[in-house]
Amino acid sequence: MPDPARSITLTVNGTMVRVQPGTTVAAAILIAGGYTRTSVSGEPRAPLCGMGICFECRASIGGKLHQRSCQILCTQGMDVRTP
Ligand code: FES
Repeated sequence: MPDPARSITLTVNGTMVRVQPGTTVAAAILIAGGYTRTSVSGEPRAPLCGMGICFECRASIGGKLHQRSCQILCTQGMDVRTP
């Protein structure tokens, strides 16, 4: 059961998201209703493998580009940007 006292707040493209400790950035992006990139035909793409292989989940995290968001846990005040 989620514990509001332990929740972590971060922003995804400027939208505040509250998650529980242990939540990946990829999950936070999806909770925020975002996506991680667009296909060559312009369709939104989202994390696929969830284990660091496909690179579909790349995002800018704390100003660092092309981070695999499925491999990084959310931290308090984190700033996440996607296309
Ligand atoms: S979802 Fe495949 S590398 Fe992150």
